[in-house]
Amino acid sequence: MARETELLNQIASPLLAWYDEHRRVLPWREEVSPYRTWVSEIMLQQTRVQAVLPYFQRFMEAAPDVTALASLPEQRLMALWQGLGYYSRARNLQRAAAVLTERYGGALPCSYGALRALPGIGDYTAGAILSIAYGQAVPAVDGNVLRIASRLTGYEGNVLDGDTRKTVREWMAEIIPADRPGDFNQALMDLGASVCLPGGPLCESCPLATLCTACREGRQASLPVRVKKAGKRQEERTVFLLEREGRTALRRRPDSGLLAGLWEYPNGAGTLTETEAARQLAEWGLVPLEWRERFQAKHVFTHIVWEMTVYRLAVSGDGPAGWAWCDPAERGEYPMPTAFGKLGE
Ligand code: ADE
Repeated sequence: MARETELLNQIASPLLAWYDEHRRVLPWREEVSPYRTWVSEIMLQQTRVQAVLPYFQRFMEAAPDVTALASLPEQRLMALWQGLGYYSRARNLQRAAAVLTERYGGALPCSYGALRALPGIGDYTAGAILSIAYGQAVPAVDGNVLRIASRLTGYEGNVLDGDTRKTVREWMAEIIPADRPGDFNQALMDLGASVCLPGGPLCESCPLATLCTACREGRQASLPVRVKKAGKRQEERTVFLLEREGRTALRRRPDSGLLAGLWEYPNGAGTLTETEAARQLAEWGLVPLEWRERFQAKHVFTHIVWEMTVYRLAVSGDGPAGWAWCDPAERGEYPMPTAFGKLGE
């Protein structure tokens, strides 16, 4: 056994004892099924547990199983996801549900290859479903596990690099206990969320502190190594909050690409002056009646930052075909990305 796996091989027992005492009580843990594990793990990607809780409950009521999810109307699905962000996750869930309904009678397969072949299911999610719902000894390596493994072993591989992930997955596959693989993976998630924190670990509360290389050598702050390849792209946009008799203009985004199919305030590339903005309004067939406000806003996506200049004004005219003039009471019927939704508040 390599030095790293020899060390990691000692963590299961103290980690599981700690988990038995400190585990978080969560709805997808109290009632476990492959479907619930799948949906919760997708929701928990990039999103904190506290934020996911109300969404998960609502989602399970609206779509209690795979076939119900497959037949959910798109607008209903988007409304259920509204505010969670990263909407492609919801679309992939539904695409996968259609495949599962068609080919697997609405069940989730219990093999790694079959799960990985579904839209939106990567190595991590396949590992989480197999270990938590099917009791198979498969690791689920996310950012938490990479951080914990780096610190425990003192490993300096770049955790943003695919090779490092592969290495850590191989280590974990060797040492994951066959009798409690799901608890082991979830114990690592909880340890990463409450003790081995990215900003500063609470080593005095850690059940693995006596085994940990970073703790012993005082290297907690420099591990894991995260070397970014490229920065985020900055994009300037001008957004229009157009008001007409108490209603606001919305249009639907294209069916593919960033934030596909969601509703948005009319907007365009670049930062427009008031004169340029007036020209844009004329192109849409609108007449400005009263310029009410101009403000700046920013929204950070995974790879892009939108620097937005927002004009709020009263107009007359209908705008291009396909636009909706939405009453505030109807806003729920027009799912919007978080980037835009917060502008109208
Ligand atoms: N984060 C990702 N998956 C999780 C899980 N199953 N429990 C708690 N936090 C998580």
